[in-house]
Amino acid sequence: MLKPYLIFLLSAVTIAVQQASNCRCRPHDPCWPSQQEWAILNNTVQGNLVAVRPAASVCHEYEYNAQECKTVKRLWSNSVWRSAEPGAVQWQNWEAWPEHHQSCYIESSQNTTCGQGRISLYSVKAQTVAQVQRAVRFANEHDLRVVIKNTGHDFLGRSSAPESLQIMTHSMQNIQVVDDFVPEGAPGNRGEGSAVTMEAGMQLPKLYRTVALHNRTVVAGSSHTVGAVGGYIQGGGHSPFGAWGGLASDNALEFEVVTANGSIVIANSYQNSDLFWALRGGGGGTFGVVTKATVRTLPEAPVVLCNLNITTVQGDSQFWDALAEFHAVLPSLNDANGSGYYYTVPNVPLDAKTSVSAMTSLLMFPGYTDITEIEKLYQPLLARLSQFQRVKVQKDFNPLPSINATIFTLLLGGTNTDTTGDFSILTSRLFSKDLLVSRDGPRRLINAWKSIKFDANDVFVGHLVAGGKVETNGDKIDSAVNPAWRKTVTHMLFSRSWAANSTLEQQTDIIKNMTDVEIPILRSVEGEENMGAYLNEANAYEPGFQQSFWGNKYPRLYSIKQRWDPDGLFIARKGVGSEDWDDAGLCKIVGHDDNQCTGSID
Ligand SMILES: Cc1cc2nc3c(=O)[nH]c(=O)nc-3n(C[C@H](O)[C@H](O)[C@H](O)COP(=O)(O)OP(=O)(O)OC[C@H]3O[C@@H](n4cnc5c(N)ncnc54)[C@H](O)[C@@H]3O)c2cc1C
Ligand SMILES: *[C@@H]1O[C@H](CO)[C@@H](O)[C@H](O)[C@H]1NC(C)=O
Ligand SMILES: *[C@@H]1O[C@H](CO)[C@@H](O)[C@H](O)[C@H]1NC(C)=O
Ligand SMILES: *[C@@H]1O[C@H](CO)[C@@H](O)[C@H](O)[C@H]1NC(C)=O
Ligand SMILES: *[C@@H]1O[C@H](CO)[C@@H](O)[C@H](O)[C@H]1NC(C)=O
Ligand SMILES: *[C@@H]1O[C@H](CO)[C@@H](O)[C@H](O)[C@H]1NC(C)=O
Ligand SMILES: *[C@@H]1O[C@H](CO)[C@@H](O)[C@H](O)[C@H]1NC(C)=O
Ligand SMILES: *[C@@H]1O[C@H](CO)[C@@H](O)[C@H](O)[C@H]1NC(C)=O
Ligand SMILES: *[C@@H]1O[C@H](CO)[C@@H](O)[C@H](O)[C@H]1NC(C)=O
Ligand SMILES: *[C@@H]1O[C@H](CO)[C@@H](O)[C@H](O)[C@H]1NC(C)=O
Repeated sequence: MLKPYLIFLLSAVTIAVQQASNCRCRPHDPCWPSQQEWAILNNTVQGNLVAVRPAASVCHEYEYNAQECKTVKRLWSNSVWRSAEPGAVQWQNWEAWPEHHQSCYIESSQNTTCGQGRISLYSVKAQTVAQVQRAVRFANEHDLRVVIKNTGHDFLGRSSAPESLQIMTHSMQNIQVVDDFVPEGAPGNRGEGSAVTMEAGMQLPKLYRTVALHNRTVVAGSSHTVGAVGGYIQGGGHSPFGAWGGLASDNALEFEVVTANGSIVIANSYQNSDLFWALRGGGGGTFGVVTKATVRTLPEAPVVLCNLNITTVQGDSQFWDALAEFHAVLPSLNDANGSGYYYTVPNVPLDAKTSVSAMTSLLMFPGYTDITEIEKLYQPLLARLSQFQRVKVQKDFNPLPSINATIFTLLLGGTNTDTTGDFSILTSRLFSKDLLVSRDGPRRLINAWKSIKFDANDVFVGHLVAGGKVETNGDKIDSAVNPAWRKTVTHMLFSRSWAANSTLEQQTDIIKNMTDVEIPILRSVEGEENMGAYLNEANAYEPGFQQSFWGNKYPRLYSIKQRWDPDGLFIARKGVGSEDWDDAGLCKIVGHDDNQCTGSID
């Protein structure tokens, strides 16, 4: 009678041991660094190690501090503050770990205790490359979960991780423009022309401002606080001048990287070219800590700006007809180097009785000064829209002197921060030129979007950021960028949110409906295996993320990952190699079952 019981006990022990050996060192484990070991690390990084608590902890329970809480509340949706704060990322959902009942929401009542959630326990606020190396080596020696935080903007939760050591790059802000950049190891010291080298913490406005002083511009994104060197460029990096300049990663010339074993390597076309290939599109937080990036600069250009709005009474079928016509002309606008954004709000309540459906587009045409040329491009669209009697069209064409002026007056005008701090989950898809030039393609695309549920003021966004040079670079630049980008005209997305007091079930329902219902609707337009999604602005639970984010480039990326980081020190959610780990990146899982995370957060 004793035997079965013993066997049960023994097998339980075996399982426990197996699990432990598959996991990284965690705070309750004997292997966790002692106070003294942390103090030694602190010394080696010149006192830049901090113990971290979630930013909102000063508003709760025994940590409550009236003065500090007031400051945190004031800055809560300020992305500048969030990017510099080790205890915060940009989206509240990635600060919490609801599956483990750990959260520290600003909205919760003062008498609740703050859980650490996905906020790192320690942070090295690195000032130098040597400090990054020491943090990497320390994480290696102690088998710690490590996470790289730059600005914390990642929509898929890649810049925070439970029970982790954070390497924060924000303080590394040097930047330099050179007239003729020579990549290390270039044969005959051949230069690549004007380029800008920047450290890991550089954010977009300072990059734009610095190159503008040299009468140059760069291909970069549209945000006050997204970083230029981190997840943005490593994920591919789209730009409002994409058709004219390509993807940000297409313009990368060299990276300096601290690899998983703590060495510094230079990756470019001539040395460590496999790493260089992977860092252009393979995704942030995966191949090492990039400490410097050098990107090509481009000559300034004048811009013609075009704003076109389409409005009907809410729910009028002509609204969707007009949207289909709009999408049908996007490839031709793209061919003229037009890029930009458009926002569709199917239900805008104006007052208690009236609601409208509205689309507003803002497209930019670099290299043009003559408005009439651009008006000609829009003529076919305007002619077709005039057939719809119930559609109101508004348009406004304006010349601007430079890309710099366009960026600072239009795209980054008004405030100096992005609005963040909310709960946010995205769903997105890349749509091809082939689709939009086909006879019924635009209609099928619009029917898919029409079947997604949008409540009052919900918006879906189109990013006309590919085509043109993004397309033609496909033949010239061999990088890890999703091959779908080279066929893309528009990258479209919508987001969903929830309240701080929502239950885990309510959150799971939203996520599950996105993965099980809404993603399939968008995928069905061009077929499951065709096209894909942009890894930086995609669903955080994207099923089959390897295919969606990298297509046929995934196998090579996976093998480069094994070469440079065989033990998986750098694991980012839904990043290359992340399928070998649990969702938190804490324990290795046996087998590659990517489906286990699909549609559920428990
Ligand atoms: C308001 C807003 C505007 C945006 N606009 C654009 C846009 O115009 N174009 C576009 O393509 N995308 C845009 N994005 C998406 C953006 O590219 C992603 O959010 C991206 O992850 C931000 O990278 P980050 O380094 O700033 O953020 P983080 O969240 O800090 O980092 C993102 C990922 O990169 C890793 N990482 C960070 N730094 C390094 C480093 N030095 N070395 C290695 N890994 C690193 C992190 O570990 C994480 O995995 C926008 C996002 C927002 C919120
Ligand atoms: C690291 O050292 C600095 C400077 O001495 C100190 O302010 C800080 O609190 C230390 N960090 C930790 C985690 O002890
Ligand atoms: C916490 O405060 C809320 C009001 O802010 C109150 O309703 C609740 O009873 C309090 N809970 C405890 C455990 O004190
Ligand atoms: C760039 O544009 C901004 C806003 O218009 C302006 O303040 C700045 O001087 C411009 N920079 C250069 C170098 O022209
Ligand atoms: C800046 O570049 C533009 C466009 O190439 C050119 O017309 C202009 O003369 C340049 N200005 C300066 C100050 O170099
Ligand atoms: C670190 O890893 C790289 C690539 O695998 C290797 O070339 C290098 O020798 C290693 N350095 C050390 C110090 O182990
Ligand atoms: C588009 O931009 C490219 C530079 O990337 C330029 O060579 C080309 O002539 C431009 N095309 C048009 C139609 O303006
Ligand atoms: C288009 O709509 C936007 C948003 O409502 C508005 O700010 C803009 O002025 C409109 N454009 C025109 C040309 O009327
Ligand atoms: C799921 O999504 C579809 C499409 O957006 C929507 O119509 C439906 O109401 C959603 N279902 C639930 C349960 O939220
Ligand atoms: C969350 O709070 C709002 C009020 O702010 C309330 O209407 C709602 O019922 C609450 N939801 C839950 C699940 O408690």
